[in-house]
Order: sequence, then structure tokens, then C-alpha cells
Amino acid sequence: MSLTPFYAALCAQLSGLLTGERDWLANTANASALLFLELRDINWAGFYFLRGEELRLGPFQGKPACTRIAVGSGVCGTAVASGESQLVEDVHQFPGHIACDAVSASEVVIPLYAGGRCLGVLDIDSPSLARFDAEDLAGLEAFAQVLLDHSDTPGA
Ligand code: SME
Repeated sequence: MSLTPFYAALCAQLSGLLTGERDWLANTANASALLFLELRDINWAGFYFLRGEELRLGPFQGKPACTRIAVGSGVCGTAVASGESQLVEDVHQFPGHIACDAVSASEVVIPLYAGGRCLGVLDIDSPSLARFDAEDLAGLEAFAQVLLDHSDTPGA
């Protein structure tokens, strides 16, 4: 799927923002801030990093969130276990959804891979049902790839 003008511009903005810095923690922090500034109708944007069989909270914007999620649990743990992005129109219909912020109604989670190894996930929540569609998913997967391409990932 080709990127919408909005996501093409957002990816270009991220690329510019990250140019000259390859630190993974610094770049995920700035990426979460950019998403929170630019995406309409969201209440949380951030990262969980894979540590063994568990995801741990990384840089984010939004309300304080749960710090540990087991692989296979919730939307984030499902993305890691399946290796596939999760587009959830109504989190209340998702078995095992973990509610960090009660206002969250829909969610998109993208697993992050470098060299075939899963590093964690990018997670974005919205207070509106079905906030994210296939164009958002394609745009956010491209956004995640720009982040990975501009960063020295842990363990690489
Ligand atoms: N809803 C996620 C938990 C993380 S918060 O949304 C920030 C899940 O079910 O995995």
C-alpha cells in the first residue's frame, strides 16, 4: 500500500528529526513525542521493549502505563507472539486486552524487528472506536521502519 500524503510527510519529518542521532533510546523517545504531537485523536503513543519473555515500558507520551506485559498477553504481547501488527477497532472486544487508560477504545500495535530479532513494539491508543485503518497501519509500519533505519538497535 502506498503512503498517504500525511504519513509520507510524517515519515519525512521523523527522518529529519533523527538525522545525526543513532541512539535507540533517544530516537524512540523523540519518535513517541512526534507521534503524540502529529496524530489526531490519540491518548497514548509509545514503545515497549522485549526483555526475555516480557515487554517492558519504554519511552512514551500519555498517561502512566503498565510496566510489564508477558509475551502473548494483551494487544502488545499478541503482536510479539504472532510477529504481526494488530489493528484493534474496539479494544473491549479483544480477548485479554490490557487497559492502561480506561478511555482507550481502539489501538494499533506494530512489532519492531531488526536483523530478524524482535526488539519490542510501537503501541498507539485512541479514545475513539476504529480510529485506525489500513492506511494508518501502512503509514505507521513505514514510520517504524524509518525509526529502525536511523537507529543503532540494541544487541545489533
Ligand atoms: N493495551 C495494551 C497495553 C499497553 S497500553 O495500551 C499503553 C495491551 O493490551 O497490550
